[in-house]
Amino acid sequence: MNIYIPKESNKDETRVAASPDTVKKLIGHGCKVSVEKGAGTLSKITDDAFKDAGASIATAKSAGDADVVLKVLRPTPAESKKYKKGAIVLASMDPYGNEKDVEAMAKAGLSAFAMEFMPRITRAQVMDVLSSQANLAGYQAVVEGAANYSRALPMMMTAAGTVAAAKCFVMGAGVAGLQAIATARRLGAVVTATDVRPAAKEQVESLGAKFVAVEDDEFKQAETAGGYAKEMSDEYKAKQAELVASHIAKQDIVITTALIPGRPAPRLVTREMVKSMQPGSVLVDLAVERGGNVEGAKAGEIVKIDDVSIVGHLNMPGRIAASASLLYAKNLLAFLETMIDKESGKLDLNLEDELVAATLLTHGGKIVHPNFTDTKSEGDAS
Ligand code: NAI
Repeated sequence: MNIYIPKESNKDETRVAASPDTVKKLIGHGCKVSVEKGAGTLSKITDDAFKDAGASIATAKSAGDADVVLKVLRPTPAESKKYKKGAIVLASMDPYGNEKDVEAMAKAGLSAFAMEFMPRITRAQVMDVLSSQANLAGYQAVVEGAANYSRALPMMMTAAGTVAAAKCFVMGAGVAGLQAIATARRLGAVVTATDVRPAAKEQVESLGAKFVAVEDDEFKQAETAGGYAKEMSDEYKAKQAELVASHIAKQDIVITTALIPGRPAPRLVTREMVKSMQPGSVLVDLAVERGGNVEGAKAGEIVKIDDVSIVGHLNMPGRIAASASLLYAKNLLAFLETMIDKESGKLDLNLEDELVAATLLTHGGKIVHPNFTDTKSEGDAS
């Protein structure tokens, strides 16, 4: 079986979908692995490191010989055309709003898997790209927040005087938010956090942060069976906004991570709230790719409102690419291993498998994922 790892064609993508470790494991399963020249450069993995692991260094032409293509981002229609009919492609497909690209994958006869649709069950934890990347994004958000903040985070008592600890508020305590809390605490900030899921309260407190939320009856039921947030009522949002407004005015760094599957990101911070913060304060909006939690945040930019910075970096995991690629590559390897027959080393795609059924977007020339073939809502992906 031939496996190909391309250099990502999107110029803003710094990650790569394999590591020397995953290449070695694939070769151990009897696969032949080719990596496009320079594919790992931005993730600090040299061609030699891939070669030492047993891969051959290839050009883009090798894409057409591959039975399996491992990618970070969805292939462009031009890339899909170059792959062999029937090839398996594993990537973060981001299919909503990109249906034309999904159609191109179907037309090319690819079996394309959307890694972000992986069910959040114990067996699939090791394949969960959302978690592995969100965890690093949460860490990096605090690093970016600290770098754009004009003061120190920890309290420092020096001969020349005392520097007060920074106050950091994390909005959304999922995977990214919890890592942001832990990171801000490690840097010595005084951390508070909020979420609409009641389960988040205990997790926030177990990390040593204070939980701030409107804990009414609606809050007590604000979690789907899949563990995700529900869209809250306008009444709840108004109460939440009031609480947040008075809290934010006293914060130095705000990290927002709030998302609702299949919906635009909830708007949690208004321009007035931004303006209520002290000069030199920073907001880092991790939800900027989905419309943003902060009013005024711009994707890919650092915006200043008065003297408050709103950091809207895209692809936060890509800013810590060397770590992000190692984990992402491991996620893909773990999923691919479930499709390799242990005895023969050949591909053995079981369409009945729940992980396959949940993630398979296109197969046999068609779009097959239920979220795209019937009227089920996007939020049901969880
Ligand atoms: P996410 O990226 O979809 O959302 C981030 C956070 O924003 C969530 O905690 C959500 O509740 C919160 N949020 C949404 N609307 C909000 C609002 N209006 N105000 C404040 N916060 C708001 O979520 P993520 O990080 O993917 O995690 C969702 C859940 O899935 C968590 O409970 C997590 O522990 C769980 N999970 C389970 C896994 C497993 O069992 N294998 C793996 C990873 C996560």
